[in-house]
Amino acid sequence: MLVSAKEMLIKAKAGKYAVGQFNINNLEWTKSILQTAQELQSPVILGVSEGAGKYMCGYKTIVGMVNGMLEELNITVPVALHLDHGSFEGAKACINAGFSSIMFDGSHYPIEENIAKTTELVNACNILGLSLEAEVGSIGGEEDGVVGAGECADPDECKAVADLGVTMLAAGIGNIHGKYPENWAGLSFETLEAIQEKTGEMPLVLHGGTGIPADMIKKAISLGVAKINVNTECQLSFQEATRKYIEEGKDLQGKGFDPRKLLAPGAEAIKATVKEKMELFGSVGKA
Ligand code: 13P
Repeated sequence: MLVSAKEMLIKAKAGKYAVGQFNINNLEWTKSILQTAQELQSPVILGVSEGAGKYMCGYKTIVGMVNGMLEELNITVPVALHLDHGSFEGAKACINAGFSSIMFDGSHYPIEENIAKTTELVNACNILGLSLEAEVGSIGGEEDGVVGAGECADPDECKAVADLGVTMLAAGIGNIHGKYPENWAGLSFETLEAIQEKTGEMPLVLHGGTGIPADMIKKAISLGVAKINVNTECQLSFQEATRKYIEEGKDLQGKGFDPRKLLAPGAEAIKATVKEKMELFGSVGKA
């Protein structure tokens, strides 16, 4: 059964580790992530962007697929199904479809509007027992059409949003979606420390988990980050494994093209990436 991310994140923050959010794009990715979480006895969050939601035939299809897998694969570790960077409308659609966790990204609105919209969703999520992630200060780069400037969030605005009763807070600290540029200044730990000081027990979320050096990940966890999002790294490992398989001519088997064979190396590659991240985040054995 899908669970809210609340309990797993409170435990992670107290235990000084982070739960990974891995974004899904299709059945193979979802299965690989769930099987790895089960094998490593790690809690896990499945992230769905609005674009991936459309690609996978809508939120209800995804809820059906994930619930089916939890049962058929005998998954017993805590799993949350989470909307990633949701619009206000997208958040409401996922609440209705049966997601167990929602992110409302109101970082591009003036802070008053972000607060008003987040408040409305806090109330809806509280009634249904869902977890809610809010965002202050945009995350840099582009993800699925959502473009951010890579700001450092204002700690007072973070406190104002945290006090609304959200479950977790994503705050920009110089992090960027996708590959980091050569001249990237690194994470602003000064900002993170100031946010942590103002928001206390609130689990903080680090987006753009691809390409952040391991020592920075560990330091961010020590300063209150309890959830780390990874998307691009799974895309890259899937792509590389698939490219290699095609280059070796292995897709030309027997009567021709078999999608089950073609997608298998990518699915294995995602398992390896997820394992590496769960080990780095410290969530192995924490289910
Ligand atoms: P990356 O694509 O950089 O791994 O970031 C993922 C993310 O933050 C999803 O919200």
